[in-house]
Amino acid sequence: MRLAVFKRNTAIAVVWLNSTAAGMMLQSMAARAMMFLFGLLALGATALGCGEGDEDDDEYFTNVGTAECASGRKWTGGNEESELMRPGGNCIVCHRQEDEGPDYQVAGTVYDSVNAADDCAGVADAEITITDANGVVTTLRSNEAGNFFLRTNQGAIAVPYTASLSYRGDTRAMQDPQTDLNCANCHTTTGANAAPGRIVLP
Ligand code: HEC
Ligand code: HEC
Repeated sequence: MRLAVFKRNTAIAVVWLNSTAAGMMLQSMAARAMMFLFGLLALGATALGCGEGDEDDDEYFTNVGTAECASGRKWTGGNEESELMRPGGNCIVCHRQEDEGPDYQVAGTVYDSVNAADDCAGVADAEITITDANGVVTTLRSNEAGNFFLRTNQGAIAVPYTASLSYRGDTRAMQDPQTDLNCANCHTTTGANAAPGRIVLP
């Protein structure tokens, strides 16, 4: 009787030990699976992060009347970091002054109205073609905010350059070559340095 009890206890103990070992194995397998999944998630997040301005940034736009912004959309996110930030603003000058944000060699915003105010959203999917002094062609595409840009570490553009804009099959070119790659220095709301105003659709 005692023995039976002992045996039973041993059996129970063995079963318990086994189940613990199995449990630990399962747990470690589950932990590995979780770590793998977290790894995938982290990779996914990094890949998304490369975009620097995904659809989530839409929350920083507010619908406004077309008298205020022809596009009906205005950036109200202040200096929230995003590729959609401050359309029409001087990305290059502000980033250098603030010592924050990417260092761009080219930046600007494409609009559908020549006197668009700062922070009004511009037009997406316009193609900006820059032909440099050596004939090297760089093509940029405006994003959801109308912004386009090229980082200083992404190839060199020899000046003077010429620029043109294409949208849905129509093209408009800047007549005169320029030496300043910061489009926003001239293409402001009212235009500076003889520019008529914004870079507008053909
Ligand atoms: C008035 C100043 C100002 C203007 C104008 C401005 N930015 Fe920024 N930008 C900032 C600041 C400040 C930060 C850093 C914000 C932070 O770290 O929270 C930043 C960050 C960014 C980032 C984030 C980079 C990263 O690390 O993810 C991007 C992209 C960006 N800006 C693009 C632009 C573009 C494109 C324009 C022009 C259309 C522009 N910015 C105009 C001030 C400005
Ligand atoms: C130093 C001032 C200056 C800079 C910088 C500048 N532009 Fe211009 N841009 C002008 C002037 C002036 C005109 C009108 C005369 C002409 O077409 O040359 C113009 C006209 C244009 C036009 C012609 C169509 C229109 O809307 O009137 C386009 C397109 C254009 N610029 C694109 C750009 C792009 C893209 C950049 C930046 C890579 C840029 N510009 C930088 C001064 C400038």
